This record gives sequence, C-alpha cells and structure tokens, in this order.
Amino acid sequence: MRILVTGAGGYIGSQLVPVLQKRGHDVVGLDAGFFNDGWLYGDRPKNLVIRKDIRKPDLIEVLQGFDACVHLGELSNDPLGTLNPEITYEINHHGSVHLAKMCKLAGIQRFVYSSSCSVYGIGNDGAKTEESDVNPQTPYADCKVLVERDVSTLADDDFTPVFLRNATAYGPSPRMRFDIVLNNLSGLAWTTKEIRMTSDGTPWRPLVHVLDICEAMACALEAPKEIVHNQVFNVGDTSENYRIREIAEIVASAFPGCGVVLGDSGDDNRSYRVSFEKINNGLPGFHCQRDAAMGAAELNQIFSSIGMTEEVFGHRAFTRLKQLKYLLDTRQIDDHYYWSTSL
Ligand SMILES: NC(=O)c1ccc[n+]([C@@H]2O[C@H](COP(=O)([O-])OP(=O)(O)OC[C@H]3O[C@@H](n4cnc5c(N)ncnc54)[C@H](O)[C@@H]3O)[C@@H](O)[C@H]2O)c1
Repeated sequence: MRILVTGAGGYIGSQLVPVLQKRGHDVVGLDAGFFNDGWLYGDRPKNLVIRKDIRKPDLIEVLQGFDACVHLGELSNDPLGTLNPEITYEINHHGSVHLAKMCKLAGIQRFVYSSSCSVYGIGNDGAKTEESDVNPQTPYADCKVLVERDVSTLADDDFTPVFLRNATAYGPSPRMRFDIVLNNLSGLAWTTKEIRMTSDGTPWRPLVHVLDICEAMACALEAPKEIVHNQVFNVGDTSENYRIREIAEIVASAFPGCGVVLGDSGDDNRSYRVSFEKINNGLPGFHCQRDAAMGAAELNQIFSSIGMTEEVFGHRAFTRLKQLKYLLDTRQIDDHYYWSTSL
C-alpha cells in the first residue's frame, strides 16, 4: 500500500513510519517540522518527509497516488491547544477536515485519524466505550470531537475514515516528548531520583505504548473495509487504566533509588477510565502487547545508553509548548503558526 503519514516528523509519526515500512508499505511523510530540533537517540533516517502545512490550499498537489493517509499532523496536546485556541481550531479542526476532503478528492480510499481518549473528558460513571457520550474539556479535545463529526460525513463507497481514539502514549521515540505523563515522570526519575507531584495523583488516565498505537494504525489500514468503515476504536488495553499516582509508582520501580512524593489535590479535572474491548476483540491482528512497566524500563535503558542529562530532559524541543513558544518568540513562525519562510 502507498501511504501518506501526516505528522511523520513527530513522536508517534517517527515510530509509525518504520513500522509501516517493515510491513512492506511504501510510506511518504508530510510535516510542518515544528519539532525538528529534537532527536533523542539513534541515527536520523533519510525517509522522505514533505515539509508542508496541512492547511495549505494547494495541499491536493502532494496527495496524488496514495491508497491511504494516516493523519497525525496537529497541535498535539492540551497546553498547546490552550496557548491559542483560535489557531488550534484553525489547524486541528479546519485543517484536518480540509486534509480529509482533499484526500477524498485525490482518490485516497482510507483515512485513519489519530483522535484521543481525551474526548471523554471527565466522568466517574464506569469505563467509557465508543458509544459513551463525549465530554471534551479543552479546545484540543473539542477539536477531536469536531473532526470525527465532520469527517464521518465524508464516508462513502470510495472513502473509508477510521477514528482511533488513542489513550495517552508513552515509551521511547527518537522525536521524544517529555510532556506526556509517563515519559515526564521517567525523565524526573532519571535526573532527580525523585518524583515530586504537585497533585494527589488520584485522576484516572488510560495509557498506551507508542508502538501499540502504531500497531493499531497498521491494522486499521490493512483491515477489510467492512470492519473499519467509519468506525471509532478506543486504542489501548482495559488493564492500562491507571491512577496518576500508580503511574508514578510504576516509574519509580523502574528507576532504582527513585522515591515518590505526592502533593495536595490538583486542579486537573480530567479523569476517565476507558474500555478497550472493541479494538482488542474486533480489529483483526490487534492486541496490546506492552504495559507501563515495560515502557518505563525501556526509557531507563535509553537514558542510560545516551547518558541523558538534565539539559537534554529540559530541552525545548522535547516539550511541545516550549518549542512552539520559542518559534513564536524568535519569529520563526508567525501568529498563525506559518513559517516565516513559506511552506
Ligand atoms: N501522544 C499522545 O499521547 C497522543 C494521544 C492521543 C492522540 N494523539 C494524537 O496523535 C497525533 C500525533 O501526536 P504526537 O504525540 O506524535 O504529537 P507530535 O507533536 O510529536 O507530532 C505532531 C506532528 O504534527 C506536525 N504538525 C503540527 N501542525 C501541523 C500542520 N499544521 N501541518 C503539518 N504538520 C503539522 C508537528 O510538526 C509534529 O511533528 C496528534 O494528532 C495527537 O493529538 C497523541
């Protein structure tokens, strides 16, 4: 299959491209390149990544000749979304719908969208299934709901969208993110030997290994159309619903000598548990193969192999909000997050 991966230069994308290539697919990446300053370990690959913004009116020119698109190229977390909600809607909602429409016009038949379990927001009424009401708490999560709503209306005999609501990812990726919970706590454990939390760590958060997300994406691309056509799948494993304080304890166990200090109740009201029965029972070839303890141990190994320092852990390129603020402050990108030299 010839596959276009948007956001190929990001945390998930830089793991997804080799996973798809190993399965025999012909893969081309597309990315605005906001986080190109960071590469945590290993050689930089020579894969073709087209540097382009998904909002561009002439996007269709690069979409010719693909069978499928996996769409990861958005502003990827709540703090980024809250920095400038207007731009978040411009990229994550309107940009993504524009991309899906252009894919359909270009004759691309399958469109796998990287949505998020954050659409469930809050709720203590049991594990959320794909049928549960959504309750987005932030512009980022709201955009995920809006893209699912609008792109699902494009589904027809020639266009099959699939919506993957990923749990919060963890685990190594060369284009690392230290702003997601398990990776962040692992970085703290390595650099300070202490996980000091500002909150009491009671909120629930489902997690999933980045390579299990990649596996789910590959399965969604390869599955028979009738199984995935216009379907939503939560991506993760029901056993991987953790309280934040449990995540801290799992990470501390993977970093010998590291202690955990809990804080008072925090102001983060996002808490939800999610059921992952549908994907594990219904998406051919998929089941989660990794857990948080494994992810933390892998990170320990990588930090050790590169001799990770506090400076690397704190580098702007590994925290999405810091890097975007840096690009704005240095006027490398304008107020609409377009590069000063046009893409
Ligand atoms: N990592 C997670 O925990 C997680 C969980 C659920 C959903 N997701 C979703 O998966 C996708 C990828 O997440 P990630 O963790 O790899 O994030 P990331 O920030 O590492 O990667 C996103 C990539 O998209 C690119 N991008 C941003 N805006 C763009 C634009 N306008 N045009 C072209 N490219 C653009 C960025 O340069 C970046 O390389 C995102 O949509 C995110 O919301 C991630």
